[in-house]
Amino acid sequence: MKAIEWLGNSLRILDQTKLPMVSIYREASTYEDVAEAIEHMEVRGAPAIGAAAAYGFALGALTYTGPREGLADHMEAVYNRLAVTRPTAVNLFWALRRMQDVLREARDMEDLDAIRLRLVEEADKIAEDDRRMNRLIGQYGNGIVPEKAAILTHCNAGALATVEYGTALGVMRSAHAAGKDIHVYADETRPFLQGARLTTWELMQDKIPVTLIADNMAGFLMQQGKIDLVVVGADRIASNGDTANKIGTYSLAVLAQAHGIAFYVAAPTSTIDLKMPSGQDIPIEERQGKEIREVFGVPIAPPDVQVYNPAFDVTPAKYITGIITEKGIVQPPYSVNLLKLMVRS
Ligand code: MRU
Repeated sequence: MKAIEWLGNSLRILDQTKLPMVSIYREASTYEDVAEAIEHMEVRGAPAIGAAAAYGFALGALTYTGPREGLADHMEAVYNRLAVTRPTAVNLFWALRRMQDVLREARDMEDLDAIRLRLVEEADKIAEDDRRMNRLIGQYGNGIVPEKAAILTHCNAGALATVEYGTALGVMRSAHAAGKDIHVYADETRPFLQGARLTTWELMQDKIPVTLIADNMAGFLMQQGKIDLVVVGADRIASNGDTANKIGTYSLAVLAQAHGIAFYVAAPTSTIDLKMPSGQDIPIEERQGKEIREVFGVPIAPPDVQVYNPAFDVTPAKYITGIITEKGIVQPPYSVNLLKLMVRS
């Protein structure tokens, strides 16, 4: 299962809005195609958004037909278009900045094809880095998973949300591969249903035992002693450890603390935004009311009811037991330890 795949001149995107009913692929051959796929959440999940945007940036150069001297202005427009697709996941901006740096380094190169090649190579590197980071997150994360653990997760932080393997689901994959008899509880994750549609589908393909629950059941399961551990992904981690992730994550973290259950965030360092001092300033995407008023186009509320649809929330650092990264597990105090982690090679 691959969320994205570079085909040489286009990006093949598995349309996640249609899963798990059908596996439909869209071939993005322009940067605008990629921008729309990110906006419509055909490709979603912080690391997958970053990698897709990197290929989108490369496509901006590959499809450019103007003169060499017009390239810089054109690529600025490409950057700006891709940068406005989704505001919360910092991986988008991390990947676009890497692409921009490569373009800047190539500013003295006359040959357009050579520049195009450099950009595709960098997008490939971004994708490869993500694969590598997820495997390492899985390995470190396995260390905190007890034998026979019942693990609760929210949204989808799996292979579909990354280039391969996943972050939070990578931890579960790694524990399962190590022979631990784990069981995953997947929150359905209203309104986009990433948990119901994507996480269960992914885990079932890998034969990892999973039970789907509605979002409002988590507290009851914890009270019944059915959950040993919570592991979720992240869209942006501020330098004090405050973490933006799918709406509903904050409630889970508070519930976990009230029940004495460990709450871990699994994310690559590309999700850490040291420039953001705290979670207060993380931009939270607000999506269309339609996503709440309807389920798969079927109305479930009065068509003109007012709706508020924030796509993410911020979990304050004090609720987070640890942050599992490809460089190791970071523990509080995050303001000190995240900085140390980021300067370590
Ligand atoms: O709106 P989405 O589906 O892009 O949100 C995804 C999440 O919140 C994930 O938990 C996060 O991006 C981490 S994915 C490894």
